[in-house]
Amino acid sequence: MEEHRSTRDGAPEAPAVRVAVIGAGHVGLVSAACLAAVGHHVAVQDVDGARTTSLRAGRTPFLEPGLDDLMARETESGRLSFHTDPAAALPGAEVAFVCVGTPNGPDGRVDLSAVLAATGAVLEHAPDGCVLVNRSTAPVGTAAYLRSLALEARGDRIAVAVNPEFLAEGTAVRDFLAPDRVVVGAWSADAVEALMAVYEPIISGLLPLDLEGSVLGTAGLRERVPVVATGPSTAELIKYAANAFLAVKISFINEIAAIAEEVGGDVTEVARGIGLDRRIGPHFLRAGIGWGGSCFPKDIVALQGMAETRGLSARMLRAANDVNRDQHRWVVSRLQRQLKTLVGRRIGLLGLAFKANTDDLRSAPSLEIAAELVRLGARVRAYDPSVKALPPELQDQVELAPDVESLASGAEAMVLVTEWPEFAQLDLERLASAMRVPLLLDGRNLFDPEAARAAGFTYVGVGRDGNHPPERTAPQDREPAVAVPR
Ligand code: UDX
Repeated sequence: MEEHRSTRDGAPEAPAVRVAVIGAGHVGLVSAACLAAVGHHVAVQDVDGARTTSLRAGRTPFLEPGLDDLMARETESGRLSFHTDPAAALPGAEVAFVCVGTPNGPDGRVDLSAVLAATGAVLEHAPDGCVLVNRSTAPVGTAAYLRSLALEARGDRIAVAVNPEFLAEGTAVRDFLAPDRVVVGAWSADAVEALMAVYEPIISGLLPLDLEGSVLGTAGLRERVPVVATGPSTAELIKYAANAFLAVKISFINEIAAIAEEVGGDVTEVARGIGLDRRIGPHFLRAGIGWGGSCFPKDIVALQGMAETRGLSARMLRAANDVNRDQHRWVVSRLQRQLKTLVGRRIGLLGLAFKANTDDLRSAPSLEIAAELVRLGARVRAYDPSVKALPPELQDQVELAPDVESLASGAEAMVLVTEWPEFAQLDLERLASAMRVPLLLDGRNLFDPEAARAAGFTYVGVGRDGNHPPERTAPQDREPAVAVPR
């Protein structure tokens, strides 16, 4: 008999649902492991046989904190299984989540072939009454199209719904188990109800106690998670709008950073100063070398495409992209400013992953920066705690250093690219003395400028008085750039 775990208030767990997850990528695996962990029976199906074999052996194909433990535990409990054959994963499913990639094709359009293949598998193998839920980010109107396919293949015996994911890499397990909201788009109340049965343990905030302790701590839990049950097109648009808003927010603070570099001021304090205003909020105001990753770049382009093909100009999205492109160039332009020529210069990149706590290099600013530095004649080395191989196009151009010490030795500049917490603990004095030129470009504003300067570095942060002396030490020397009316 299956063991029953208790929740914080001693309430029994919600009834288990039989779930299928199509696609064993980041979203699919995190969703599957978390749904198993809250008590559901989850069969994961992926067309990649090698991947399912290694998942069965307990090997996760990417770094995601907390995921390995959950997968091992739930595979052991028997609630989580992996399949290559859809005919093995789908026959018992009450709800089937489609969690596959939706890359942008060469013409900029979203490539829906994986969504269509997964939908085909569900329509062929799922039992009557199953709800097909698209969780892959797909253009508005995709769910309506999937519904037309379902109606054609199975009449009204397979309902279709949308349930966008808001999982950020590095915190995906927590994001799934303690979300800010759950968004559901569906045509029928029955489909919404089926999804609510799946999410009930999460929405109620009453997770099994062992999960609260091990994965979440007690932070982030709330009494009841808000649910937005709406139309499918609205749900699809919510996903794009959320990512676009976050990207715009980052580009906004990066624009302020560029202004701060010219007029004076520290953008990290500006961010704090505006973020304390509840109407603005403190999140996603970290200035840096710009956004990357598997979602923002492709989703912003896709949303822009949706607007422009309908004659709308999508000015905010275009501006956010433009600012981001400039931001990727920040490193090279600041290095040129400091070192004049880059030919033959030995540059060390601290970090490669597009953000900390992941090994993901998809649209990572580091790749663009490294390629441009190489193009300009620099000798580029890099160290990242989680990245052990470079993409093929950089393998002959960039050398991976085994550790930070070796990276620093003889370097003429170090560039902080990824904000790994362990980099914040580095002995800056030792690092500076190992370098030929102690220049530190802090692309994520991770270090305290004063501490870095005290350690012997020429320190350049993003939007941190790049062209000015530190404000607090010599305010009397500063003249406002623009006459201030009295
Ligand atoms: C994002 C969304 O957060 C998530 O909800 C969605 O499902 C997928 O896309 P992710 O790409 O994993 O998640 O990471 P996120 O933490 O959102 O960061 C995206 C990019 O913005 C990264 O390149 C990050 O370095 C950058 N960023 C983030 C900043 O430059 N400044 C910030 O303040 C926050």
